[in-house]
Amino acid sequence: MIKITENYQIGILEMDYVSKIQELEQGFGLAMAQASDLNKLEQVRQQYLGRSGLITEFVKIIKELSSEDKKSWGGEFNRLKIASEQSYQLRLQELQIAQKRQVELERASFDVTAYQVGRQFGSLHPCSLISAKIEDVFISMGYQIADGPEIETEFYNFEALNVAKDHPARDMQDTFWLNLPGYLLRTQTSNVQIHTMQNQQPPIAILAPGRVYRSESTDASHDFAFMQVEGLLVGRDISMANLLATMQVCLQAIFGQQRLEIRVRPGFFPFVEPGVEIDMECPFCKQGCSVCKRTRWIEICGAGLVHPNVLRAVGADPDEFSGFAFGLGLTRVVMLNYGINDIRLLHTNRVAFLQQF
Ligand code: DAH
Repeated sequence: MIKITENYQIGILEMDYVSKIQELEQGFGLAMAQASDLNKLEQVRQQYLGRSGLITEFVKIIKELSSEDKKSWGGEFNRLKIASEQSYQLRLQELQIAQKRQVELERASFDVTAYQVGRQFGSLHPCSLISAKIEDVFISMGYQIADGPEIETEFYNFEALNVAKDHPARDMQDTFWLNLPGYLLRTQTSNVQIHTMQNQQPPIAILAPGRVYRSESTDASHDFAFMQVEGLLVGRDISMANLLATMQVCLQAIFGQQRLEIRVRPGFFPFVEPGVEIDMECPFCKQGCSVCKRTRWIEICGAGLVHPNVLRAVGADPDEFSGFAFGLGLTRVVMLNYGINDIRLLHTNRVAFLQQF
């Protein structure tokens, strides 16, 4: 049933249609202009163009008109319908564009660098800082940085390094064995020597910083995990003199000293022959202090000339090639360098501690 208000009744004056059409058009135009977002526009659309909207209802009157009136008014009614539909589409597009712009504007004004109260900045860990410094020294001498697994097999951690199954030297490094037979957490970065020599022919010059694990009880100077830097140079005619010169240059660079004497004592490591332990002159005193325990010397690394058995294990001929290797206590260097007196601080992740570097 068409609901016809009094004004629209059949036979009302032509003028009434004209003013009604105008009124509807103006009302609709104004309401759309005032609709400030898409939701409000949709409400206006329903109010005017919906199933029983004001314009929809008005247009239905045409059906009730005499055929003569239909002829003279049909076009006008139709125009109202089409024009209001078109102006609705225009306004819809306008608001859609405006909304899109608004979203873009909000995104553009989001400043990712804006300062926020209480925000904390990260910094490099002291071990990373010193490791990078040592890497720089060796890269400048033509070395490459190498890496190896922390979960390792007995072969790479011991056997290939000339430490046989029942060799007492295995007791020097208390090992974390995994439940998987033959697997362990590497006790030394020396495993990288084997991985590298298996994949690369001499000449080889690598530096391998990394974490190692020992099943030890912890105190201020012992930890179950700490860092070492392994160095390996294999080529022709590599001698002890090359090793000692390299270590001296390295330690002078780390501790920022023009001259830093080193001292060499015999040491036993199954994968080098001869093996040595290298001490460096205390960089903090001239006559003995608490850091060097009044001895003026600080023990800093194990080293030696690569054992012929190790070269053979990776298929290199010991009559043709020779090399040196060293294992520097990176954690020890970090502690000395920054005056850290408890090794455990290095893995507590305490922000107040880490912020100092
Ligand atoms: N891997 C030894 C350790 O953890 C340190 C070491 C000594 C490494 C002599 C070497 C070396 O490369 O030649 O105690």
